[in-house]
Amino acid sequence: MEVLGIDVGGTGIKSNIVDIETGTSTHEKFKIKTPTPATPDAVIECLKTTVENFNWQGKKIGIGFPAVIKNGISLTASNIDAQFINYDINAKFSEALNCDVTVINDADAAGIAEMTYGKGKGVNGLVIFITLGTGIGSALFYNGQLLGNTELGHLKYKKSVFEKYASNSAREFHHLSWKKWAKELDVYLNHLNLLLSPDLILIGGGVSKNFDLFGQFLNVPVKVDTASLLNDAGIVGAAMASV
Ligand code: BGC
Repeated sequence: MEVLGIDVGGTGIKSNIVDIETGTSTHEKFKIKTPTPATPDAVIECLKTTVENFNWQGKKIGIGFPAVIKNGISLTASNIDAQFINYDINAKFSEALNCDVTVINDADAAGIAEMTYGKGKGVNGLVIFITLGTGIGSALFYNGQLLGNTELGHLKYKKSVFEKYASNSAREFHHLSWKKWAKELDVYLNHLNLLLSPDLILIGGGVSKNFDLFGQFLNVPVKVDTASLLNDAGIVGAAMASV
């Protein structure tokens, strides 16, 4: 079965048609910039452009979105417009796109794909999947079962929260060297390890392809690996979560 998967991030909106039986994207990936401010109206315009690009009408769409999503409602908005707080997201997007839209948290979506088709496949115990992008997203899996909407990027750290120091956008914004940034990431991963005693930590998000530049500075007493699906995980997982 094919579903249109869309990954709405803090900086870009990526999409593709996904064969959810195999976890593969079947077309050329479509990318547009996340609008600023990312209000519901502006995001919907981008989603309409996406839907038109794939000529996707009246069918299923799965969307990964950078917010806590419960019962089809978005409840938080850290890297998108505050109008998304308490927003009836499944219903509004379905109506605007004239499709059956299911929205889930973006990190949960990417984690689902990675646990099904990537390095989390068949791993028992606790897997913490982290995405390092504009923010820090997290998805927890116990024996393969998702515990959704965990928001572990928002654990308090220094004067703010960890995602302000250890996300990829923090590295770029403060022009940090890989070593300096990795030190913040190391504190973060050790903190997660202390709190949750995971069996495996998987790092996703575009920056994970540079693991050879920062992995050497991490010193965490648990296996840390990069996600294998990299940036496509969010698209594939969003599509999978819609059925
Ligand atoms: C949001 C999360 C999201 C993460 C990655 C955070 O700022 O609160 O919901 O998963 O960014 O996009």
